[in-house]
Amino acid sequence: MTDHVLVTDDGAVRTVRMNRPEKKNALTSAMYDAMAAALEGAGGTSPVRCVLITGVAGTFTAGNDLQDFLKAAMGGEGLGSSVIRFLHALARCERPLVAAVEGNAVGLGTTMMLHCDYAVAASDARFQTPFVSLGLVPEAASTLIAPALMGHRRAFELLVMGKALNGEEAKACGLVNAVAPAGQVEAEALKAAQRIASLPAEAVAASRALMRGAPDAVVARMDEEAAEFKRRLVSPEAKVAFEAFLARKK
Ligand code: COA
Repeated sequence: MTDHVLVTDDGAVRTVRMNRPEKKNALTSAMYDAMAAALEGAGGTSPVRCVLITGVAGTFTAGNDLQDFLKAAMGGEGLGSSVIRFLHALARCERPLVAAVEGNAVGLGTTMMLHCDYAVAASDARFQTPFVSLGLVPEAASTLIAPALMGHRRAFELLVMGKALNGEEAKACGLVNAVAPAGQVEAEALKAAQRIASLPAEAVAASRALMRGAPDAVVARMDEEAAEFKRRLVSPEAKVAFEAFLARKK
């Protein structure tokens, strides 16, 4: 249990809120487990018809907690079972996923979009994946899905060169559907989630399954990336990068 993720159901819409503002919603193992449980629990006979993933005002997430990465690197654990569980839950989620992004969406905050069916971003949102500058490799099957979505070159710029995208740029490359002024993003995303939840549920599920196909290839790529990630976490490149972030002066 953690207070850093709040899960609430309102009618057929489940809201999963990352809620660790003092650390810019950096994701810990407990948070990954709570988010995975919320997605897993939305399947089967659950009355939930759509899941909205959001953060707090002005912050989506700073991505994985870098202290945790450092611990994982020292313990030889790689990405860790909680992260893997969450990634698999994203790929296998039985209900449509909607995201509302304000502020920074770093690392998994960006790659998560690739698994969402609908996403709204603030015009001044900032999507960025600093994996390579941290000495790591991209995760969440982004190496498979992003090139298919936006073409190899734009995916390379985002995932390898770490180019940051604002809301409009994210929309232009298909990472999000819509852009709204900061402060109205969650309301817009909630409207979309409610609209999805009001559609005939079986028809939505069947259409979505046809569009996404079996999740096996996505899950296999997640596992392949995780194996490389584990090797990279113990690299001198990664150690230097984490320590530099955690030791930086304000
Ligand atoms: N892991 C652990 N702690 C983090 C964190 C992360 N990913 N991101 C932010 N924090 C912490 C900071 O250390 C700081 O803690 P402190 O107040 O105890 O010193 C606090 O959250 C606020 O962060 P700060 O950097 O001061 O906020 P900002 O608004 O200036 O910048 C970010 C926000 C997200 C741009 C910046 O924090 C950042 O670049 N974070 C790292 C992102 C990252 O590399 N994630 C890993 C992706 S794989």
